[in-house]
Amino acid sequence: MVPQASDPGLGEPLVEGPGIGVGTWAWGNQFLWGYDPRQDATLAACFRRAVQLGLSFFDTADSYGTGRWQGRSEQLLGAFTAGLDPAQRLPLTLATKLAPFPWRLGRGGFRRAFEASRLRLRGKLDLVQLHWSTSRYAPWQEDPLLDGLGDLVQQGEVAALGMSNLGPQRLRQVHGRLAQRGIPLRSLQVQLSLLCPGAVAGDGVAAVCRELGIELIAYSPLALGLLGRPPGRLPPLTTGPRRLLWRRLWPGVQPLLEALARIGSLHGATGDAVALNWCRAHGARPIVGLRTPAQAEQAAAALAWRLSLNERQELDQLAFAAAAAGTRMPANPFESA
Ligand SMILES: NC(=O)c1ccc[n+]([C@@H]2O[C@H](COP(=O)([O-])OP(=O)(O)OC[C@H]3O[C@@H](n4cnc5c(N)ncnc54)[C@H](OP(=O)(O)O)[C@@H]3O)[C@@H](O)[C@H]2O)c1
Repeated sequence: MVPQASDPGLGEPLVEGPGIGVGTWAWGNQFLWGYDPRQDATLAACFRRAVQLGLSFFDTADSYGTGRWQGRSEQLLGAFTAGLDPAQRLPLTLATKLAPFPWRLGRGGFRRAFEASRLRLRGKLDLVQLHWSTSRYAPWQEDPLLDGLGDLVQQGEVAALGMSNLGPQRLRQVHGRLAQRGIPLRSLQVQLSLLCPGAVAGDGVAAVCRELGIELIAYSPLALGLLGRPPGRLPPLTTGPRRLLWRRLWPGVQPLLEALARIGSLHGATGDAVALNWCRAHGARPIVGLRTPAQAEQAAAALAWRLSLNERQELDQLAFAAAAAGTRMPANPFESA
């Protein structure tokens, strides 16, 4: 079942197509994103602005937050959501991801983690996703955990299940396993951007999602923000390891950034909105990492228009040419075949 634009809790796109979700990986992550609790007021304002503008899908994970900030993303999201009026809160979809850490074993292996996430989210947890597949390194671990996730649905603890970082082969298997129990698989979340276009290639996972009626969710749609920068000089970056990645990718990404700026200007939009709408043009819901009210406004503005087929195809060509030349995001090592 592919959610429709009119479904409650799935955003209010101004034109037909997938909605845009909000990613919260940075909320509590000091290592990659330079999180500092003094940012919390801005994060709260970002959240409120996103909700005001109709962004209603929020993605978090129980592993988000580095060091002593472990769990911070869920805590902040839970606190911000609890501060809303019920009329604003109810239509939201809060989605978390549970990590298949090696010590989470067996059919009950996620039970405590699930309870802890639900507590941090103050009781509002609408979609539980398996964060990554263990099929490459501990294949025996995954099926019992999936069965346990299925139990959560059948016991009425959570409304819907999603997966993340599954390739086409494993997606079919998991879908089939759940289907045997009559449990629908609502969504699959994978890395998808103009710098990581593999999911929408002919043999990619997007085709399987379409065939099986699974919503496709695109994570890192701006390639950690790189696709939101204007072409030209490498912008200064204050925080950590992203700098190394950007420096490596910057020369090769220029043709893409130029195309984003040009196409954006035709729609009265900025390049970041074009990058988000490229995901939507492929039927995926981008979940963009937001930290400021201005970023929430930019993301919501992309809902007002769509790419033409020609524009999408031009960007497809540039994206696959860049990938073939080595200008691409690192693949997630935990993504299954
Ligand atoms: N399932 C998984 O394994 C997995 C993996 C990664 C991410 N995710 C999810 O996907 C979400 C999004 O991915 P991501 O955070 O990795 O990367 P992203 O969405 O590609 O990039 C996020 C960064 O882009 C910048 N940005 C945001 N809006 C912008 C705009 N309008 N113009 C220019 N730059 C803008 C911000 O950085 P600055 O504030 O520095 O400008 C922001 O932190 C995550 O938050 C998380 O929820 C899931």
